[in-house]
Amino acid sequence: MKAMKGMRTHSCGELRGAHAGQEVRLAGWVHRRRDLGGVVFLDLRDREGLTQVVVNPGDVAPASAAAAGEVRAEFVVAASGQVARRPEGTVNPRLATGEIEVRAGTLRILSSSTTPPFAPGDEATVDEALRLRYRYLDLRRPRMYRNLLLRHRSAMAIRESLDRQGFLEVETPMLIRSTPEGARDFLVPSRVQPGKFYALPQSPQLFKQLLMVGGIDQYFQITRCFRDEDLRADRQPEFTQIDIEMSFVDQDEILAVTEEMLHHVWARVLGADIQRPFPRVSYAEAMLRFGSDKPDLRVSLEIVDLTDLAGECGVVRFQEAVGSGGVLRALRVPGQAAASRRDLDDLTAVARSAGAEGLASVALTSSGPKGPLAKHLPRGVLDAVTARTGAREGDLILFSAGPAAVAAAALGRLRLEVADRWGLRENGNALRFVWVTEFPLVEFDPSQGRYAAVHHPFTAPMEEDKPLLEASPDRVRARAHDLVLNGVELGGGSIRINEHQMQEQVFRLLGISLEQAQERFGFLLDALRFGAPPHGGIALGLDRLVMLLAGEATIREVIAFPKTASATDLMIGAPSPVDPDLLREVHIAVAEV
Ligand code: AMO
Repeated sequence: MKAMKGMRTHSCGELRGAHAGQEVRLAGWVHRRRDLGGVVFLDLRDREGLTQVVVNPGDVAPASAAAAGEVRAEFVVAASGQVARRPEGTVNPRLATGEIEVRAGTLRILSSSTTPPFAPGDEATVDEALRLRYRYLDLRRPRMYRNLLLRHRSAMAIRESLDRQGFLEVETPMLIRSTPEGARDFLVPSRVQPGKFYALPQSPQLFKQLLMVGGIDQYFQITRCFRDEDLRADRQPEFTQIDIEMSFVDQDEILAVTEEMLHHVWARVLGADIQRPFPRVSYAEAMLRFGSDKPDLRVSLEIVDLTDLAGECGVVRFQEAVGSGGVLRALRVPGQAAASRRDLDDLTAVARSAGAEGLASVALTSSGPKGPLAKHLPRGVLDAVTARTGAREGDLILFSAGPAAVAAAALGRLRLEVADRWGLRENGNALRFVWVTEFPLVEFDPSQGRYAAVHHPFTAPMEEDKPLLEASPDRVRARAHDLVLNGVELGGGSIRINEHQMQEQVFRLLGISLEQAQERFGFLLDALRFGAPPHGGIALGLDRLVMLLAGEATIREVIAFPKTASATDLMIGAPSPVDPDLLREVHIAVAEV
């Protein structure tokens, strides 16, 4: 805290032995009050720390002595006095200010507090709903301040890096037409145009593309996005993106700009030097080796394909699965040949939760292969399996057979489950970034009976796959990239379509007729006719980035005023009914519910 004046000369975290003898003024919250035989000891707290203030009624005016008698936890007080070294034996080495205390000359109550529902030191035991209801009290905890500071420093470092790299921060509107990013829109009714609505942006996607058409060349924005979707630990209905777009670039340049920015953030915020370039895997490879498009590379275990061995393996279920177009894959679990029946039942439940029919396993014990599969597998097949998986005596091998997506999902989840269960993940400080590229452009959505964009409809197909667009759209790969850190999707982006014919073709593929496209995205199709430069970009979730920097498990811990899983703000009570007059003004009638 630099600019101290008026009520304070120092913060509550600042005074050291070298300040002994100085007259100081402090202000803050009463963290703790102890009365030792008439002498009152106050731990005074602000965001920077704690300082012990001693009020000896004999040494101060009656008003100050009365104040010392009256104060309770979370009262706000101002104290002035002299810094003194603590007497021998009372130094507190766990406190930054533990060498000194302030012997009060005056103590003044600035604001009183009723008994708070929890104290800033109680974090482990306080229910999150209570914390969110009284968020302003929760924010007094050092951990919350540390997280917000980390967030601030991250945003500063992001701006600094992108500014240096030639990017311009441009704001884009919040009251817009719907942008399709795969979630539902939040709508805002128009008062002046009855029956019409704005949508809050799910992202600035189309505006940043239009900025490129406008010649801005290199844009970024740290901006709020709104998505009405089911919430999870890493999802909020309003969240913040670091949104980036650039012209005349290929994918490599977008990845390099992002890596440079993240390198700067880690250096500035944590003083860490992260390794670049980040490894890259294609989507197909990620699904095969890790069973996920957001692989957690802190787990070194990899899935291997055994589909070609199914024919000779002697297991009817495997043969049937592969015979009907499926795959056979396996995962080696080092050192777990002695896994219990219960462990295997739990693992089977995990495989089932991913849609698999069951789970087969072989344990390589010192007395040979064990488990129901062991007697079926011919020696030659078992040798091939151990060679491919790298399994040795003492290991467990898990098998999944079925449609490729199901086997990948099942073994992908098991990979994380066995890592958790048997401590096979690198320690908490490891940072495993990975780019996932070459996503499919579209996937078939059986519920809608048509193709849907895997990223969004403005993503360009890979040049060499363009000929497949008409005949086998599901084999077309996109020029898209996701950034994953420790299994969390941190960001995603792509090279965009910059020709209107191609954009129209992709809309058609997605079942959007030319009329519908003109109606919803006419402004984009128009812009693409006026000289749109080749362009592309990325957006990273700032909340997720700070969550990972802070080592927190949810993004709620790094957002000052987050919402609950049911999208409620418990402090202000939002959403809420509104005055009928207000509704009438915006031409809305609420149906009976
Ligand atoms: P995407 O939809 O992948 O891409 O979003 C980019 C990143 O934003 C974060 N994110 C979220 N964070 C918290 N809560 C949410 N509900 C939420 N949804 C997304 C994630 C995600 O990786 N316009 C494209 C980007 C582009 O193509 O340039 C987009 O928005 O970290």
